[in-house]
Amino acid sequence: MALPDLQRVAESLGLESARRHIFLCAEANEPKCASCAEGVRSWDYLKGRLKELKLAGPGGTVLRTKANCLKVCVRGPIAVVYPDGTWYHSCTPEVLERIIQEHLMGGRIVTEYVFAQRSADCVRAREGQ
Ligand code: FES
Repeated sequence: MALPDLQRVAESLGLESARRHIFLCAEANEPKCASCAEGVRSWDYLKGRLKELKLAGPGGTVLRTKANCLKVCVRGPIAVVYPDGTWYHSCTPEVLERIIQEHLMGGRIVTEYVFAQRSADCVRAREGQ
């Protein structure tokens, strides 16, 4: 059983109800995949929309994390969604809105912005099939 302080944090973040986790590169020190301003704009948009749609937080289905660098460093801002292992490029607020609506809410990958996708074989192996 979790300690009370950790249990409170887990509940406030929706750690037990989340189905997907999106990481977005918003590197602040010498960003390479996009300008600093673009990264901040995308991160602020993602954070605001997930809150507005009540997807993040208590009882939410989405976790979000601002990453300093996802090691891709071109055509950003870069994002990755787990557990699907879907990597997206060019994550402007407009593209993030599609990722939120179609992938995070609808479960459908936004294929036109995907540049890497974990293979189905990997998923099956992980699930022991
Ligand atoms: S600086 Fe964004 S992925 Fe490396």
